Amino acid sequence: MEGFWQGKRALITGHTGFKGGWLALWLQRLGAQVLGYSLPAPTQPSLFETARISESIRDVIADIRDLGRLNAVFREFSPEVVFHLAAQPLVRASYDDPVETYSTNLLGTVHVLEAVRHTRSVRSAVMVTTDKCYENREAATGYRETDRLGGHDPYSNSKACAELAIDSYRRSFFNGDGTAAVASARAGNVIGGGDWAVDRLIPDLVRATVAGKPLVLRNPKSTRPWQHVLEPLSGYLMLAQRLWDERAHYAEAWNFGPLEEDARTVEEVVALAARRWGGDLKWSVDAGAHPHETRMLMLDCSKAAGAGWRPLLRVEQAVDWTIEWYRAWHDKHDVKALSHEQIERYSRLMAGGRSA
Ligand SMILES: NC(=O)c1ccc[n+]([C@@H]2O[C@H](COP(=O)([O-])OP(=O)(O)OC[C@H]3O[C@@H](n4cnc5c(N)ncnc54)[C@H](O)[C@@H]3O)[C@@H](O)[C@H]2O)c1
Repeated sequence: MEGFWQGKRALITGHTGFKGGWLALWLQRLGAQVLGYSLPAPTQPSLFETARISESIRDVIADIRDLGRLNAVFREFSPEVVFHLAAQPLVRASYDDPVETYSTNLLGTVHVLEAVRHTRSVRSAVMVTTDKCYENREAATGYRETDRLGGHDPYSNSKACAELAIDSYRRSFFNGDGTAAVASARAGNVIGGGDWAVDRLIPDLVRATVAGKPLVLRNPKSTRPWQHVLEPLSGYLMLAQRLWDERAHYAEAWNFGPLEEDARTVEEVVALAARRWGGDLKWSVDAGAHPHETRMLMLDCSKAAGAGWRPLLRVEQAVDWTIEWYRAWHDKHDVKALSHEQIERYSRLMAGGRSA
């Protein structure tokens, strides 16, 4: 992978966010020239600030809904590879402000597609949506890329709309020689250091612990597929590289999810986190908590497996690396150095195959 990225011009939207920040660090480590285009970091604290992302890349603070500015930045930087991650990514916020959610997630995605269309230097583009883009069919088997799109809440639905727009652009504009090869990537529920979004389990747990309070679990028995942030990012990097060489096989939608056996209940994950944190991490179960399990959303990732991608961290390791990061941040250690160290560790696993 190293050789491919050396000197490549890569543009990331959403680099001030959780996943985009990790991707920026990884690409910079691989030798790419990186430009990030985003609004300011959505949380305080943030990975962007604590891992000093802007030290290592070119950093443009702007809105993807400003098409003039987006086009100008694309023209000036001439990216060869584009990763689109900028979004309003939260379900609850999408109920509070559906217009903002659709304008960012749908119109913003269309703007990025437009900028790609008008920039001849772009050879591959990975557009990030979500596992929530599928119509919920209440089935026990995982969702496949060919399943029907849908989405109940405005967030999920806006991402399904974005998928449709990506597909339309692919058929209409990205279908001939000299045009960009464009794929979409569907992953979900990732954990890792540096996420401070609201309504996500690990950030909520860290916030409560730092405030010296127990976290109240409302759905302790809910089972979720947990995945470390570096897992889908390795899929995005693989996709971008394959799109570059073999567009015919890769310019479509791809799922990147964890193994089914790595699904765990919320309470099990909190217990793993507590063991890694040591001492003062506490939680309690809401008396009115639902005892029954909610249906779990799983992805069928056999298509990505066929292309050589697979998860490399078991859920215990994913939680371990995540809490290692927050503990280091809490103890005021250098989390930029730790982030690089974790990327290095993950890269060694990629080179050596599956871990334990
Ligand atoms: N974190 C997850 O568990 C998860 C799961 C599934 C899908 N995703 C998707 O992955 C992507 C990244 O998610 P994240 O968790 O890093 O989110 P995040 O909230 O940490 O980051 C979002 C980024 O988008 C930027 N942004 C928002 N609106 C913008 C606008 N109008 N113009 C420019 N920049 C804007 C923010 O500044 C930030 O950099 C999103 O597309 C999200 O939908 C995330």
